Amino acid sequence: MRMVDIIIKKKDGLKLSKEEIEFFVNGVTDGSIPDYQASALLMAICLKGMDDEETLNLTLAMAASGDSIDLSQIPDIKVDKHSTGGVGDKTTLILGPMVAALGVPVAKMSGRGLGHTGGTIDKLESIPGFNTQLTQEEFIRIVKDIGIAVAGQTGNLVPADKKLYALRDVTGTVDSIPLIASSIMSKKLAAGADAIVLDVKTGSGAFMKTSEDARKLAKAMVEIGKGAKRKTVAVITDMNRPLGKAVGNALEVKEAIEVLSGHGPDDITTVCITLAAKMLELAGMGDFKKCAQLAEGTIHDGSALMKFKQMIKAQNGNEKVVDNPKLLPSAKYTVEYKASSKGYISAIISDKLGVASMLLGAGRATKEDSVDPAAGITLLKKPGDMVEAGEPIMILHANSPSLFKESVNELEKAVKISSEKPPETPLIIDIIQ
Ligand code: URA
Repeated sequence: MRMVDIIIKKKDGLKLSKEEIEFFVNGVTDGSIPDYQASALLMAICLKGMDDEETLNLTLAMAASGDSIDLSQIPDIKVDKHSTGGVGDKTTLILGPMVAALGVPVAKMSGRGLGHTGGTIDKLESIPGFNTQLTQEEFIRIVKDIGIAVAGQTGNLVPADKKLYALRDVTGTVDSIPLIASSIMSKKLAAGADAIVLDVKTGSGAFMKTSEDARKLAKAMVEIGKGAKRKTVAVITDMNRPLGKAVGNALEVKEAIEVLSGHGPDDITTVCITLAAKMLELAGMGDFKKCAQLAEGTIHDGSALMKFKQMIKAQNGNEKVVDNPKLLPSAKYTVEYKASSKGYISAIISDKLGVASMLLGAGRATKEDSVDPAAGITLLKKPGDMVEAGEPIMILHANSPSLFKESVNELEKAVKISSEKPPETPLIIDIIQ
């Protein structure tokens, strides 16, 4: 088999066989296929697409390119959850403890943030002492002991994706539905869960800018799940607005504690209850309505907050932050961002808000950057709220006063004020199963 023939076949819009796809993935993984040929095929896939069978074969070949996690020692149905990335998205910190509090094991591997999107691992590491670098044995032991662990990737999971993602990033081939679907699902399959709930974001802060594209991506991933015999459900949620009121690592942990205590913002609480209910439904805990009630109940009876505390302790973090969030890192300097005119806030564009937060130190521009756990932005107002000219809309948090100027410049582009109240749009756009 020759790589050049596979590239030409896809360039001509033809369907690749399982063997051709495996040849490509294996060659990328062992380095025998050079980057220029891999990139050429990625571009051809981007332009000509792949059908469901090709996408499934690509996913399975990628999932098999490295280690996979064996969760069989943990009894019961293990349900994983994945979000396609957002701004202010702290859902894992909230729904993980909710689901685990109901006895459904959560063995969750998460990533770090890059660009305008945050990562769960960075958020958890803002808790003093919290260890996200668990060995596979520690990870499984903690899930067996307390029902939940959230850690960075252990082992050599899906090396093909690491190489392909790095190439896609620099060859303009990220935004392809078969490539995104196979990248996400190969990691989920290798991470070993029996069932998967996907939170597919749509809007300015997301990969999929329109709900039509988000639906296509969701359907592609649900089809892969079906083909790989893992129950998979996708919830499409709105990322045209930030989720909750906090963006930035420690600020988001604090907000997660507020949601788990029953006084968090409505939008993030609703998204978490919906996603948790879908996870519980896949774990066989009843229909969606019953599972939503169960999930909400874990906030009211305090069991989810207790589970979060247990998880922090089990991963060596200072669990006292739950009762006293002042123990979380806080920034030396704060600045108010004020409304330029009177009116309704018609939009806070999520990706620009994410960039503004990154510029304060909360995120990474490149993979090598470190993050400041204390930095970020707290929203005092949300889209739809009325403001007076000069009224504070946000508080910016940073450890160096020199960081505010550039961040404020970005916020000027993020915040839109209008004389008309913006229409209310749904937060949960669709559920694909
Ligand atoms: N997240 C991933 O893991 N892969 C993609 O291709 C896009 C988002």
